[in-house]
Amino acid sequence: MNVLRLADLIAQGRVAGKRVFIRADLNVPQDDSGRITEDTRIRASVPCIRMALDAGAAVMVTSHLGRPTEGAFKPEDTLAPVAARLGELLGPPYEKGVPLVANWVDGVTVAAGQVVLLENCRVNKGEKKNDEALARKMAALCDVYVNDAFGTAHRAEATTYGIAQYAPLACAGPLLAAEIDAITKALAHPKRPLLAIVAGSKVSTKLTILQALSSKVDGLIVGGGIANTFMLAAGLPIGRSLAEPDLLDQAKAVIAAMKARGAAVPIPTDVVVAKAFKADAPATVKAAADVAADDLILDIGPQTAALLAGQLKAAGTIVWNGPVGVFEFDAFAHGTETVARAIAASPAFSIAGGGDTLAAIAKYGIDKDIGYISTGGGAFLEVLEGKTLPAFEILERRAQG
Ligand code: 3PG
Repeated sequence: MNVLRLADLIAQGRVAGKRVFIRADLNVPQDDSGRITEDTRIRASVPCIRMALDAGAAVMVTSHLGRPTEGAFKPEDTLAPVAARLGELLGPPYEKGVPLVANWVDGVTVAAGQVVLLENCRVNKGEKKNDEALARKMAALCDVYVNDAFGTAHRAEATTYGIAQYAPLACAGPLLAAEIDAITKALAHPKRPLLAIVAGSKVSTKLTILQALSSKVDGLIVGGGIANTFMLAAGLPIGRSLAEPDLLDQAKAVIAAMKARGAAVPIPTDVVVAKAFKADAPATVKAAADVAADDLILDIGPQTAALLAGQLKAAGTIVWNGPVGVFEFDAFAHGTETVARAIAASPAFSIAGGGDTLAAIAKYGIDKDIGYISTGGGAFLEVLEGKTLPAFEILERRAQG
């Protein structure tokens, strides 16, 4: 991907003493009292900020938090908890928190070598719709615009798109660049065999991903409700399991497209079923052909899990999105744990993304064994669909002159 990178601009001496505006994705989960429950995105944003500070820039950072109403700031919209956590991570002189600036669109005071956090950018009127006047005002705040917000790269908003059009220089930060590099390595030039795991409750929400991947991957492992629909398409009984019978033709088309290329969609040969969707519901392992009319399939069976584990350990590249069973319930977590541990043990380059996948990685403590963990949710899925994300598109265009 041909974009300007912050590291290159720094190496060329084009950042020292300049005003740098960083769009980060600091949209982190919080509990009811506003405490941050998971700070991966803040930690992932630190290297870019540190890089700009060390280069002697006057640094402004902003992000959205949640989906606030534009022009109607509410206390829960504030980035204050993020400012505190970011300050702890940056260390002195910010250990008590990075200064938080409200109402910043018309001007920001910040000295070279210092950083300020600009309050939730989604409360500015015109942000979502990428209003030109707003984007031009924000562009006028800086000499260099840096997009380091991969999690929001699928949105064409004023801080992710318009500002990149009008800022004197527009480049990718290290996180955005790392995400591009990892995804390119996994999908554009993969070491084969390339295996993808696409799991989740509904085929309909991931159909375009399944279709896009079916022309690229050597094996397409489906899981969760998606696997149930594929089992139906293969003529297997699924009882009362979650599925979308109206998408059988599309599932069959994906299977046929893979088969025509000499590739496969492995259909589970055994499953773990229960009579109710409950953590303490008795779990029974059954052959896939023996699922009863009142059964709910809640996991893949041990035989299927072992087969998939063998394939994953022999893969060259693995793309992972979604747990293959209801791994939140221990009785139905074996399939996801086996798959997770096989990915961790595999010499393949692996890339994982999506909220549930990250939760599974955390549950099994295998984060160090995954080649790259994406900070993107929706953005990661759109890349798998083969879409060019707006944030990349505008940075590429700016790099061309
Ligand atoms: C995310 O959480 O996936 C990103 O921060 C994007 O948030 P959005 O879906 O509200 O644009």
